[in-house]
Amino acid sequence: MGVKIVETSLRDGHQSLFATRMTTDEVLSVAKEIDEAGFYALEVWGGATFDSCIRFLNEDPWERLRKVRAVCKHTKLQMLFRGQNILGYRHYSDDVVDMFVKKSIENGIDIIRVFDALNDIRNLKQAVISTKKYGGHCQIALSYTTSPVHTVEYYVELAKQVEELGADSLCIKDMAGVLTPQNAYELISKLKKNTKLPIELHSHCTGGICELTYMKAIEAGCDIIDCGLSPLSNGTAQPSTQAFNCVLKGTKYDPKLNDEMLNNASEILTKIKDKYLANGKLNPKSLSVNPNILKYQVPGGMLSNLMSQLKEQGAMDKYEDVLKEVPNVRKDLGYPPLVTPLSQMVGTQAVLNVITGERYKMVPKEIRDYLHGKYGKAPAPVDEKVLHKIIGDDEVITCRPADLLAPEFEALKEKYKDIARCDEDVLSLALFEQYATEFLKKKYNPEPVKEDKVEVEEFNVILGGN
Ligand code: CO
Repeated sequence: MGVKIVETSLRDGHQSLFATRMTTDEVLSVAKEIDEAGFYALEVWGGATFDSCIRFLNEDPWERLRKVRAVCKHTKLQMLFRGQNILGYRHYSDDVVDMFVKKSIENGIDIIRVFDALNDIRNLKQAVISTKKYGGHCQIALSYTTSPVHTVEYYVELAKQVEELGADSLCIKDMAGVLTPQNAYELISKLKKNTKLPIELHSHCTGGICELTYMKAIEAGCDIIDCGLSPLSNGTAQPSTQAFNCVLKGTKYDPKLNDEMLNNASEILTKIKDKYLANGKLNPKSLSVNPNILKYQVPGGMLSNLMSQLKEQGAMDKYEDVLKEVPNVRKDLGYPPLVTPLSQMVGTQAVLNVITGERYKMVPKEIRDYLHGKYGKAPAPVDEKVLHKIIGDDEVITCRPADLLAPEFEALKEKYKDIARCDEDVLSLALFEQYATEFLKKKYNPEPVKEDKVEVEEFNVILGGN
């Protein structure tokens, strides 16, 4: 059987290249062609797509999902789900996680890819249980990073736990694009030996090595790879779908995609891409190779966030110092993988450490929460001195963070009863209260005069790399 391909242009492609700004109409304009190309699955939904719909596009993300579902009759639809954070940035109670999974599947999702920034299995548990309960395919994604604790053995051990938890497949999620071909070969080989789960690889081209990494992963037995149609591939996004369809054609790995449909879809996407190039949302810089991500082991999105934070402070001369401080902060914090929300937290702390001239003189609330154990267990022990300096003798949570949260869905429903007209609305409000309130007010009480909305650049800061 050939290698399966998951098409990412409608989620990660435009998220990585032009801040997730594709509209529902644009998505729908290409959905039929993609649906008929023979993909294993189509990634269409996730935190940034949801957020961007409400915050910038004045669109209902649930409606987008239903419309895509109505067009895509042959292909499974996939979403990215941040474990106990759902699509937001804090831990939600189990009943909210359950309701979100239920509604996602009801509205058209087939495969839910669940990950936790810290790879704390306890933060994945409820999403797995709920996905199975509502008949979805549950894929667990392990956040890939490099550190003294993130060895092949560490991932193999986690993979065994993932299988035991009841996942249907496993993904290695290399959000920064730092997985090298030789490491991929070793990692995938050992995962294939130690679990029965189908293995998928998700990576990014930012560092210029991704295609090589995918090839070695395929040779090691990788079952599924994430690619994007050529107009929305490469640069900070995934490798090109057509490239892999072409290279693997006629081999035992042949993904057997329909070339004509790939071409038709690409023609449509090229026009969309040109629009974002012209309006400046797609910075040509995102399309070139950035070897710094391999050197500093940080996601491309995080590099640009650091730059914008430093520009704001008028401290661009400190860029190199901050980049050098990132690995130090990571080490102090027990080597968290740099993925949302940890990439933003570690980046901000590194900036503060450099700019104030004293390490941990200023510490954001999120870092304090992390040190209190509110995000789950750090991959390695946190530096004792740093811990003491920041939280003193405070108690640190060692249980699953969500165990401390009482059910909250009914309370949220009551709280939003004047704005929400369905459970989907309640969930949108629960995740993005401010923007969802504004959006739903406009949706249900449209005003004749359209106000101009000023876009806030904090969006990039929030996104990081996924
Ligand atoms: Co990604």
